Amino acid sequence: MKTFVYPGSFDPVTNGHVDIIDRASKICDKLIVVVSVNMGKTPAFSMEERLELLRLAVGNNPKVEITSFSGLLVDFMRERNAKTIIKGLRAVSDFEYEMQMALLNRNMDNDIDTLFMMSSINNSFLSSSVVRELAKYGGKIDDFVPAQIADIIYRKFSK
Ligand code: COA
Repeated sequence: MKTFVYPGSFDPVTNGHVDIIDRASKICDKLIVVVSVNMGKTPAFSMEERLELLRLAVGNNPKVEITSFSGLLVDFMRERNAKTIIKGLRAVSDFEYEMQMALLNRNMDNDIDTLFMMSSINNSFLSSSVVRELAKYGGKIDDFVPAQIADIIYRKFSK
């Protein structure tokens, strides 16, 4: 069974993430989307909120499991007997950081590989922080996040 793991902060999930989830789930048997901790970031949405937004955004895809983990990604991979990390690449600027992560992860576990998927062109400028900033200042986010979660994101920042 080919299990891929798609890690990220998902703070919040955007159309760019959903695009990777849809495409990656077509080339594996099971895709585990794992909300993980990036120690360099202080999330705006709680872990529970990020999980709920992901569930609403992804909907009913039988191949996709959504969960969270706070530790090293390689430990989660071993726990779940998964060997492939999937990541989206938006632009050349992502490359250096992603290469470092991929090499670090493989250094920790030689059985684990990272597979990169190019973002779709209309998502290549998108990020969670762009969505947060637009929502905070009343900008339009409808083109950047799934319709079913846009209002929840606006409400979070209108408080
Ligand atoms: N479309 C649109 N945006 C995308 C995207 C896509 N396909 N892929 C990524 N992004 C955005 C993200 O939303 C994020 O935006 P932000 O910086 O505004 O929040 C940005 O690009 C960076 O994404 P990513 O590189 O995936 O970082 P992340 O913070 O979302 O996730 C972890 C990083 C959690 C995967 C990483 O820190 C991790 O593996 N942590 C676990 C601990 C560990 O094992 N560390 C590694 C060894 S030291």
